[in-house]
Amino acid sequence: MNIVVGITGGIAAYKAPELVRLLVKAGHEVRCAATEHALQFVTRVTLETVSQHPLYSDLFATGGTEHISVREWADMVVVAPATANCIGKLASGIADDALSTLLVAMPPERILLAPAMNSGMWLNPAVQRNVQTLQGWGVCTVGPAEGELACGTSGPGRMAEPVEIVNAISNGHLPLAAQRWLVTAGPTYEKIDSVRFIGNYSSGKMGFALAQALADAGAEVELVTGPTALSISTNKHINVHRVESAREMHAAATALFPQCRGAILSAAVADYRPAEQADHKLKKQGDEGMTLRLVQNPDILATLGGMKTDSQTLVGFALETDHELENAEKKLAKKNLDYIVLNSLRDEGAGFGVDTNKVTILSRDGSHCESPLMSKKEVARLIVETVAP
Ligand code: C5P
Repeated sequence: MNIVVGITGGIAAYKAPELVRLLVKAGHEVRCAATEHALQFVTRVTLETVSQHPLYSDLFATGGTEHISVREWADMVVVAPATANCIGKLASGIADDALSTLLVAMPPERILLAPAMNSGMWLNPAVQRNVQTLQGWGVCTVGPAEGELACGTSGPGRMAEPVEIVNAISNGHLPLAAQRWLVTAGPTYEKIDSVRFIGNYSSGKMGFALAQALADAGAEVELVTGPTALSISTNKHINVHRVESAREMHAAATALFPQCRGAILSAAVADYRPAEQADHKLKKQGDEGMTLRLVQNPDILATLGGMKTDSQTLVGFALETDHELENAEKKLAKKNLDYIVLNSLRDEGAGFGVDTNKVTILSRDGSHCESPLMSKKEVARLIVETVAP
C-alpha cells in the first residue's frame, strides 16, 4: 500500500521514524507529512531518510495542489501521534497547513489516527466529542493506551506502540484492500433512431455511491455506468466505463466480472430495445400512429449469476410494487445471487433521482436487514458492510 505517515507536534513523535521503518519493512511505500510543531520533536532528515521520500510539510513548496497529488498517491494516511489540536481541526474541517489540508481532502475511511496526549487533554469533553464525530464518519483510531506519560503522570493518553499501529493497518483497516469489485449504475438508453431513445428516470446516484463506498473500503472498482450527468470525484481506485445501451453494458460487465471478487448491479437496465434502430431521424407517420416493435435485452445479472464461481459474491437490486419480499426472494434464487437489495417504493424520499433511499437487504441464507431512510451514501456503506464484511 501507499501510506502517508502524518506526524503532529507531540512528544510521541519520536516514535514516528520507528513506525515508518516497520511499514517500509512490511513492504509498504511510505511518505511522511509533518506539521511545523512535529519538526520540533523529530527532524526532517530523519523522516526523509527512513521513508526514502521528500517530506511533505509545506503547502506551497511545489505549487498549490500538492495535497491533492499526495491524496491521489495515498491509499491511506496514518497520523501518529495525533494531537488534540489535529483531531479538533479534522473534526471541524480546518485545513491550515500541509497535513491538515491533506486530511480534509482524504476520504475519512482512509484515515487512521493514533491519538497521543496528556490524560486530562484526552478526557476533555471536546476531544472525546471530536473523536466520536470522526469515528462516526468512518475514521479509524488505534489507542491511546494507559500508562506512563511524558509529563510524569500516568493515565490514558500514551500513543499505541508502532507495532500495534502496523497491526491496526493490516487487521481490519481497508477490509477490501486488493479486491476488485464491479458496479453497474444508471439507466440504459435504447436507440430508436439517430435522435431518440427509450430510457428511464435512474440518476445513477445509488451506483456511484456504491462505487465510492467500495473504494473507501479499499477495493479497486470497475464502474460500468449508463448515461448520467454524474461524475466521480477523481479517484484512482474507480475505473469508470461509460456505456449507453443494455447490450454495451452486458458486454462490459461480462468482460470485467471474471477478474472481480464480486459485483453489485444497481443499474436500471431496459428490459427491451427497439427491434430496428434507424440511423436517420424517423419521419412522422401520420394519423394512424406508429408501432415500435421491441425485443428483449440480455439480463446482465442473470448472465453473471451463470458465470459466478464459489469465491465470487453477486448482488442484485429489485424494485417491486407488490409481494415485494416474496418476489425479491424468487429473483435471488432464480438469478443465483448471494444478496438482493429491495428498493422501497412505498416510502417518500426513496427511489429514483432523490438523494435518500430505504432498502431491505435479503441474503441467500434467508436473513433480512432493513435500513431506515438514509442518504444514498449511508445506504451504500451499509450494503458494502453487509455483502463484503
Ligand atoms: O429482473 P429485474 O429487472 O427486476 O432485476 C433487477 C436487477 O437485475 C437489478 O440488479 C438490475 O441491475 C439487473 N438487471 C440486469 N440486466 C437486465 C435487467 C436487470 O443486470 N437486463
